[in-house]
Amino acid sequence: MSKTIFILGASRGIGLGLARTFLDRGWSVIASERSRSKELHDLEGDNLRIVTADVTEPGSYEKLGLADGSLDALIVNAGITGAKHQSSVEATTDEVSEVMMTNAFGPARVAKTMLPKLKTGGTLGVMSSLMGSIDDSSGGYELYRTSKVALNMLAKGIAEQEAADRNVEVLALHPGWVQTDMGGPNAKLSVAQSVTGLADVIERAGGGGFRFVDYSGKELAY
Ligand SMILES: NC(=O)c1ccc[n+]([C@@H]2O[C@H](COP(=O)([O-])OP(=O)(O)OC[C@H]3O[C@@H](n4cnc5c(N)ncnc54)[C@H](OP(=O)(O)O)[C@@H]3O)[C@@H](O)[C@H]2O)c1
Repeated sequence: MSKTIFILGASRGIGLGLARTFLDRGWSVIASERSRSKELHDLEGDNLRIVTADVTEPGSYEKLGLADGSLDALIVNAGITGAKHQSSVEATTDEVSEVMMTNAFGPARVAKTMLPKLKTGGTLGVMSSLMGSIDDSSGGYELYRTSKVALNMLAKGIAEQEAADRNVEVLALHPGWVQTDMGGPNAKLSVAQSVTGLADVIERAGGGGFRFVDYSGKELAY
């Protein structure tokens, strides 16, 4: 029987690429969009179920009716850059709230709520960023950076406090700098290069614990 992955945030970019790659690898894929994504619907086939979900709206994913223990992997990919100025000095309460809810607290809530849907020994991934490494505090992108730091903290906590007794491995994934709407055209990696590596990392994961790891499988300092 094929393995099943749920990718939250698969309308475009890295999430869409992951959906395509896991379908190509014979997995059953549950992929979410917020509004209709033509590219995602173009992948339609027996192994793809498209659902609607927003990472900041728990009701949207709680009502999907996934059975407990039905997922081999859950990847929370949804993310935003946040306000254009990215400045801690200019940031408004609403701007901080939006980026933190979308990139950190929303994904953590998805992870905690959906954990029972994973099989024992399954894999829980959140799409982080090297910018979320305190070890690499090279400046700029203050709103985005701090949201990904928070995501890493929450993910490591989930590994230790909620996922350990189910032997679920928690991965904070860095996809590389990727040519998407977010990464822009000058990014180093194509979506295909990034998601091929990410899919390898996800397929090889398992066995509990936490890792902050990039698309090539290299462990990163958090
Ligand atoms: N590209 C890079 O170089 C890079 C580097 C490091 C980390 N990342 C991370 O990788 C992930 C994917 O990035 P990307 O480059 O593919 O970005 P992207 O092209 O901008 O795509 C973002 C994806 O997230 C979804 N999304 C945004 N807000 C959402 C919400 N509230 N609920 C559900 N889905 C939501 C978008 O859906 P809609 O189409 O509905 O907006 C879209 O599918 C992000 O978490 C990002 O921070 C990217």
